Amino acid sequence: MKNSILSTTFNAEFPDKAFLDLLAFNEKMAELGRISAGIIHEVNTPLSVIISAAQLVMLEEGVPEAALEMVERIHQEAQRLSQMTRGILSFARRNDDAHGEIDVCRTIHEVVTFLRYEIGKRSIKVEEKYEQHLPFLPGGGNRLRQVILNLTMNALQAMAPGGRLSISCCLGSGGGTEIRIGDTGPGIPPEVLDQIFDPFYTTKKEGEGTGLGLFVSRNLVSELDGVLSVCSLWGAGTTFTITFPPHAP
Ligand SMILES: Nc1ncnc2c1ncn2[C@@H]1O[C@H](COP(=O)(O)OP(=O)(O)OP(=O)(O)O)[C@@H](O)[C@H]1O
Ligand SMILES: [Mg+2]
Repeated sequence: MKNSILSTTFNAEFPDKAFLDLLAFNEKMAELGRISAGIIHEVNTPLSVIISAAQLVMLEEGVPEAALEMVERIHQEAQRLSQMTRGILSFARRNDDAHGEIDVCRTIHEVVTFLRYEIGKRSIKVEEKYEQHLPFLPGGGNRLRQVILNLTMNALQAMAPGGRLSISCCLGSGGGTEIRIGDTGPGIPPEVLDQIFDPFYTTKKEGEGTGLGLFVSRNLVSELDGVLSVCSLWGAGTTFTITFPPHAP
């Protein structure tokens, strides 16, 4: 495994202020994770009570049909909420990434599900294509989740309503897993394509983007022994590709 983002060797031109900002950013993300984990925990306790109570009523005899239907509905919706909170919690956990295996397609689909609200709000069409039986990758999935989240948010932010987000995961020509995230946004001008992975490069308004998303994502992908690349046609959309080697350690 390669160096973590904080121990990356920066060249002499890398400004101290930028490095301190990066540390502050990471600290903020950790704090956000801690706060959301606390809130989710508070929400989960009453949810478990609702689910158990609904199950008890469903086991009762003689409950009128109409009431039973309502209780089943309550049970179903509470289960759905509980699944959602579990998903958010796995985003918030930061230190469970060293062990285990990543089911890549499942991880990507979880992120898309997590972003359902953002996608719906922007009237974006989503096309997901997952090849079956892909090999699992080593790791706990949090880093990949963060990368997919960054790339998908960029794609959503780049598109006008009615745009199309295309996500696919398949075996690439080199025999490794290949993830593609494409959009029908305006594309990236060729003269800045080299700069988009630089820390703090952003075209977003003050307060709307830090310009760290792609820098952090490229580092996270390289920690997972993959490569993050981009292909963009000015005026015709952008596709980011993550390529993992055939036998990732
Ligand atoms: N899918 C895309 N379509 C068009 N431009 C993009 C796309 N993804 C990234 N960019 C360009 O690359 C820049 C850098 O992206 P990056 O994710 O690093 O930072 P950001 O999105 O501006 O800020 P942050 O990720 O911190 O919210 C963006 O500001 C945008 O100009
Ligand atoms: Mg971004």
